[in-house]
Formats: sequence, C-alpha cells, structure tokens
Amino acid sequence: MPDDFAPASHVRLGSNSGQPQTRLDGLAKITGQATYAADNAPEGMLWAVYAGAPAGRGRVASLDTGAALAHPGVVHVITPQNRAELQQDPDARAHVFAWKIDILQSETIRYAGAPVALVLAETLEAATEGARLLAPEVEPLPVRIGFDDGEPFEAATVGIGANPATSVGDLEAGFAAAERITEVEIETPPQYHNAMEPHAIVAQWQDGRLVIDTPNQAIVMSRPLFAEYFGIAPEDVHIRSPYLGGGFGSKAILNGPQILACLAARETGRPVKLVLSRAQMYGPVGHRGATRQTLRLGTDAEGRLTALAHHSVSATSSFDDFLEPAANASLNTYASPAISASHSGSRWDIGTPGPMRAPGEATGSAALECAMDEAAEAAGLDPLEFRLRNYAETDPATGRAFSSKALRECYRLGAERFGWAGRPMAPGQMRDAKGRLLGWGMGTSLFPAPMSQALARATLRADGSALVETAAADMGQGAWTALAQIAADGLGLDLAQVEFRSGDSELPDGGVAGGSGHTATAGSALFSAGQDAVAQLVRLAVEDPASPLHGAGNQAVRAQGGRLMLEGDPSRSESYAAVLARAGLETLAGNGRGARSPEAAGAHAMFSHGAVFAEVAVDPDLFQIRVTRLVGAFAAGRIINPRLAESQLFGGMVWGLGFALQEEAVHDRRSGRLVNGDLAGYHVPVNADLASIEALTVPEEDPFVNALGVKGVGELGITGTVGAIANAVWHATGRRARRFPVMIEDLL
Ligand code: MOS
Repeated sequence: MPDDFAPASHVRLGSNSGQPQTRLDGLAKITGQATYAADNAPEGMLWAVYAGAPAGRGRVASLDTGAALAHPGVVHVITPQNRAELQQDPDARAHVFAWKIDILQSETIRYAGAPVALVLAETLEAATEGARLLAPEVEPLPVRIGFDDGEPFEAATVGIGANPATSVGDLEAGFAAAERITEVEIETPPQYHNAMEPHAIVAQWQDGRLVIDTPNQAIVMSRPLFAEYFGIAPEDVHIRSPYLGGGFGSKAILNGPQILACLAARETGRPVKLVLSRAQMYGPVGHRGATRQTLRLGTDAEGRLTALAHHSVSATSSFDDFLEPAANASLNTYASPAISASHSGSRWDIGTPGPMRAPGEATGSAALECAMDEAAEAAGLDPLEFRLRNYAETDPATGRAFSSKALRECYRLGAERFGWAGRPMAPGQMRDAKGRLLGWGMGTSLFPAPMSQALARATLRADGSALVETAAADMGQGAWTALAQIAADGLGLDLAQVEFRSGDSELPDGGVAGGSGHTATAGSALFSAGQDAVAQLVRLAVEDPASPLHGAGNQAVRAQGGRLMLEGDPSRSESYAAVLARAGLETLAGNGRGARSPEAAGAHAMFSHGAVFAEVAVDPDLFQIRVTRLVGAFAAGRIINPRLAESQLFGGMVWGLGFALQEEAVHDRRSGRLVNGDLAGYHVPVNADLASIEALTVPEEDPFVNALGVKGVGELGITGTVGAIANAVWHATGRRARRFPVMIEDLL
C-alpha cells in the first residue's frame, strides 16, 4: 500500500477533477430510488416509539405501562426497571466523539424530551399510542436554563478535545500599549441541526451480528462504539448508511435512541425500527450550544491590533461537557502580538450539545467579526481596510506559515464584485427605491483544513472499467460525486468507467464526513488506491515482452482514458483490458490510504479562507430586516467540483443568514421544554429570505495540505457571513447586535 502522501508533492489530477459534474446520486434521489434508513422494513419488524420526559429536571415517579401494554398491537415496554444490562455505561465517555447518552439508565430526568420508556408494537400507530398512554408522572425540580441560572464550571477541554484556554504574547502589555480598547459582549442561542431526514434506525440481530440501517457520518469508526454496548466485536456490527438527508454533525457517531433500538431488537428477537419525530430531534441528538462571548480588542493609532482577548461562556448539559469552542476562532484569524482565547462552562438542564456545522468557528467568528467592525468604527477605518491592516501573514496562534492563504485575493475579488468601494463610512446613509435603509457589512471566513484517516480500494476489471470502494458518507454535500471524480483520475479512467461503492461499514474505512475534511481524506485514499492499481498494471505491461510498452521506464508511462501510453510516443500504447487479458487477470486491486502525517500537520497552519459581503434592507418604521445580497469569495485549495463546491458555500452562507436573523431555540424556563421545537416555530431560511447570493472561488495552490491540494468547503461559508449581516444591519441602522438572532426589537 502506498504510504502517506509526502508533503510538497503535488500530484497531477486527471480531467475528471475540476468538472462541474452533477450529482451522481441525484437521479436516484429525485426518483425515489434512493433508500434512507427509515425506508427499510425487514420481515417481522416491530416499531419503536419512546415517550419523552415532560419536564426538564426531576424524576419519573410513575409510568402507566399497564395501559400501554393493554393497547392492541403493543408487545413490549422497556423502562428503567426492566431494561436489560448493557456492557457499556452510558454515563461514561467511551470516545472523544461519543457523548453520554440516555438509554433508560434511571428515572432521573436530565432534560425535557429525554427518553423515559420505549414502546414496541406491530404498527407505528400502536407504538405511538402506547407511548402516549404511558403518561409519565414526574416529580419536577426547578430547571436551570440560561446563563444567569446555569451552574458555572471550568472545563478540562472544549469542542473535541481542544484546550479551554490558549494565549500567546503579553496581553497586559498589549492593552497597555493600545490607543483604544473596544469591548463587546455577544450572545448566541441554542441552535439545532434540523436535518431534513429525521434520525432513524432499523436494527436487527443476525446470528450474533448487529445489522443496522442508520444515517451515519463515520460509518466504520462508529462500529466499536455500538459494539461496546453489546459486548460484541466491532466486526460484528454492520452499519448501512447509503443515503443521508443531512447530518451537519448530529449524525457523526451514535446517539441514545439508536442504542435503544438495538437493545429492543435483542430483547424481542425481532428487527426494530425507531424513527424520531421532528419534535424528538430537539433533545437527544445534539445541538449547537449557546454562548455568551466577551471580546476585548486593543488597537494602536494606525488601527493595528495590540491585544485581542476572547472569552466564551459556553452552555452544556448538567451531565456532560461538550463546550462550543467559540473563542478559538480568534486564534487564527487576525494578527495581534497578544491573543487570549478562553472558555468556561455553564450547566443547563438541556440535552448535551455537540458539533454542529462549523462548531466553534460559526459562533466565534460571529462575535469576532462584530467586534472587529466596532473596532474599525472606533479607529475611523473602513472595515475592509481595518482587516487588511490586521492581516495575519503567519498563523497568529503558532507563528507557523500558512500552507496557503489567498485571503487577500478573496477580499479584493469579493469587494470588487460587491461594489464595496462605494460604501459610505457612516451608518444610515443609503436608501433603496422603496425607501428602506440599506447597509453593507463584511466578515472574514475561516475554517481549518484537517484530515482524518481513510482507506480505499480500487479494482480494475477485465473490461477495463473499475470498482472503487470506501465507506464514505454523502449527507447531501456531494461527496460521492467529488470522490468518484478523484477516484477516476487516480485510475486514469473516465468517470463513466468507474463504479463507486460507498456508505457501508463492510467497505474500507472512509473516515469521517466532518470537519470539512472528507473530500481531502477519502479523496486521497481513493486517488492513491487508483494509482496503486495503475502502478501494478504498468509493471505488468513493461515487463511483458508482448506489450508495446515492454522495456519502458515506469515513470514514462501515462495512464489516461483506460489506456497506458508512452510519454511522447502515442504509438506505443495499449488498453488496460489488453494488459489484464494477457496477464490472465479478471481483476487487479489497488489499495490506498488518506491521512496527514504528524510532521506535515505540524509544519504549516492549514485553513480555508474567505470574505463575505452582505447587504441588508431595513424598514425604517418597522425595522424588518431583509438580506438583499450576499457575495462571498473563498479560497479553499483545489476545487474538485465547482458546481458542488458552490452549492456547499451557498449552503453555508444561508446557514449564516439563519444564524444572523432567524435561528433560536427557546426554552420555557419553568418546564425546561422547548417552546419552538419544530420547523414551524424554529425558523430556518427559505428561498424567499434571500434575494441574491454569489459564492466565488479564488484559485489557490496548496502543496502542503495533501497531494491533491484539496482543503474543504463544507463549513467555511457560515463563518464570516453571520458577522457580515450583523455589521450590515449596523450600517443600515446605527444599531449594534448584542445577541443573535438580530430581531426587530433589538433595533427599536
Ligand atoms: Mo461536522 S459539525 O464537522 O459534521
């Protein structure tokens, strides 16, 4: 198997990459051929529906299991009293990615909506009615929700194992040297992933193996976590996850309802299907935790940062400790001789938050970009000029060189496209034809370009076509299409000659569809698998006296369109099929791995960048806010599929709009229940909320991130956009956002 890509070696990709290929899974999806987890209905299947806690804190005193069991069709009710033993303690943290879960381990209520009992029935209707008949009686305790009522604590880590506090330089000296100090406090609310496809699982036990259909962003990595609960080997967990209707971090590893369904299947000896209702997705499957962020920016007479302090109080549950790593966004964005990013926690009686699209960076950049705008105003500088004066030539946190950073070009291109140069400095100066106040704002986008680890296999077939396999996850982002393009290039084939198989844990580990690193990681594995297969093929040809390529040096042979040919002498060529046939081979398999070596990871700071410009129109009497234009310019290394990358960037920017103006989960402070836990009450943007959106990409060569030169675009678009919109609202109205979403009442 080829080793990790050596840094600074840039491979030549074929012509499949770079094409705006439409989604390969698009037709299956729009014609209903694509099956999602909940579409499965194995023979003899039972339906599972759980009853949720009606209070946010306290104890379940009684459940009417008799009434539920008496309902026609109900076959079993699982409660904390009769729940079978599990091999893994759900209150232990088994994995850095796996948070504590609720699987009926006690009568204690830790958040509203947490499962209190599971009903199994022959039909969905019977299970639903059975769950209703349980009518839990609770002994409630006062709930603690909100930063004023939450219990403060100091965290050992934030996000996925990051340091809670990082500082560089002398902060005190930096503030002492400052001409001006700008202080800003900004709150962001709890937000929910709201994937279109509800979490679902169909679990069945087959000869001691656990076979599950469930949407999953890290199919192979998840196996041991399921296995540990049931005392089986990871290989005895088979996860099938061919299609996902969105994930955004909430389907990354595992959750309580999934384990409940697996347990129920084991106890009843029948397949079990559990599909969360829309309302049930607001609780046991994670969310973006609320933050209260304070920023302090010192600037000198020229508008250069002398010190930057960013603290986030991040909300989490009463029983686990995932903290939104919001302040860390300030570590890598702007140059400052002194930076401090720190976090503390606030325990609320809510479900545990977790990673949600651009975890940390979305919330953190929202606050940072607002603070930068205020500091620019204080310094009397145009917001773009202010950012250019504070351009980070090297990574502020580590001093390392960036592997690539075309942010200046993003600023230039975005500003030009938007028409930023015509922006008046003072707020409230522009009106549109309808008399609405117009405002222009901007923000910087930034997201890390990490890699996880992935494996892949590429098998050339006798007819010269190929099968490529890796357990990657396409949750709608277009991964399968981009990955198939890379795989075809690795094999020197046309896309149509490549069959791409994925979404199943029996395949080579495709890594995690997360952290915006999936294309880079699984793509690297697929490319090197293809190259491995082709290298073997070349060897067969050059060593075979009957081949027109006999005796050629390996390096001199090119693979393209299913043919091997001598560089510079096209008359010496032959098809893959011919080489295989002479060698008597039906198939020839290559293997590949995608990962970044620790040396490569330590050598450079690796980020995608961008600049977002926003225009809003605000009604001068009613203060209704409309986003009329969003222009983003992004640099994210090599773009494999410009159509899908643009779509990803659009998606992120639209999320930014939702963050800025709409999204907020509201808890009732007495019961602890969500008052808007559905898509009627919890607003996400629709087409009508945005008049015009553009996502430009800036060419960027990165010889260090990986041999493909690929970074990622999945999360980048949200960052920067939130602040850009809030800053545009200020520019229209003269009112500064102090919390998100910015509402009419904040402008009155
Ligand atoms: Mo994500 S929050 O990296 O799925």
